[in-house]
Amino acid sequence: MDEKAILSLDSKTAPVFLAAYLTPGRIQHVLQVAEMANVLALHWQIDSRKAWLAGILHDICKSMSPETFKTQGIPLSNPLKRLFRHYPKVWHAFAALPYLDHCFHFQDRDILNAIQWHTTGKRDLSPLDQIVFIADYIEPGRPFRHRAWIETLAYQSLEAATYVVSNFSCIHLLIRHEQIHPATLRCRSFFQKKLTLDLQKTLSKGFDALHEAL
Ligand SMILES: [Fe+2]
Ligand SMILES: [Fe+2]
Repeated sequence: MDEKAILSLDSKTAPVFLAAYLTPGRIQHVLQVAEMANVLALHWQIDSRKAWLAGILHDICKSMSPETFKTQGIPLSNPLKRLFRHYPKVWHAFAALPYLDHCFHFQDRDILNAIQWHTTGKRDLSPLDQIVFIADYIEPGRPFRHRAWIETLAYQSLEAATYVVSNFSCIHLLIRHEQIHPATLRCRSFFQKKLTLDLQKTLSKGFDALHEAL
C-alpha cells in the first residue's frame, strides 16, 4: 500500500484497512472521529476530505510502542523514544508521522499536522487541526456529560471549543495525577486569550450549568 491507496480510502475500505492496526472498539472510535471531523469541516468550509482522512489515520499507532517500531525495522528518533518514557499516552500521535512516512510515504502536511497534535493540542492550531482535536474528544461514543455541550459550541466557535477541550483535558489529567504535556497548557492559554467577551459569557454560563448538574 502506498500514499495513493491511503488517499483513496473510503467508508467501505477504511474499516478493512484499520483492522490490521486497531481493536474493533478503537476502529469504531476512529470511524466516529472521522465522521465528526467531516461534519465539522463541512460546517466550517474546510477541506472535509482531509478532515475525514486525518480522523481515519489519527490513532493508527495507538496499539504500538517503540518496540513495535524496532521489530518492524522502522527508525525512531531519540526525542520520540524519550516522549514514550515521559508521555506514553501522547506518543502515538507523534509516532504516526514516521510510521506513515516509512510504511506509505505519506506526505500530506495538513493531515500529518492534525494527527500529530490531536492528543495534546498546541498554540496556534490550524482550523483543520482544531477540528480533529475537538472531534477526537466529542465523537458520540465518548461518555462525558459535557460532550453535547462542546459539540454545540464547536458549531458556534472552533476556537472556543478548542479552548474548552484543552481545559477539560488538563482537568482530567490533574484528577488522575498524570503529567500534562506543555503543548496542552500552551494550547489552553493561547485559545483562552482568543475568546471574545460574548464567548466568555457563553462559556461561563455553560460551566455554571455543568457545575450545577454535578
Ligand atoms: Fe489518539
Ligand atoms: Fe482518538
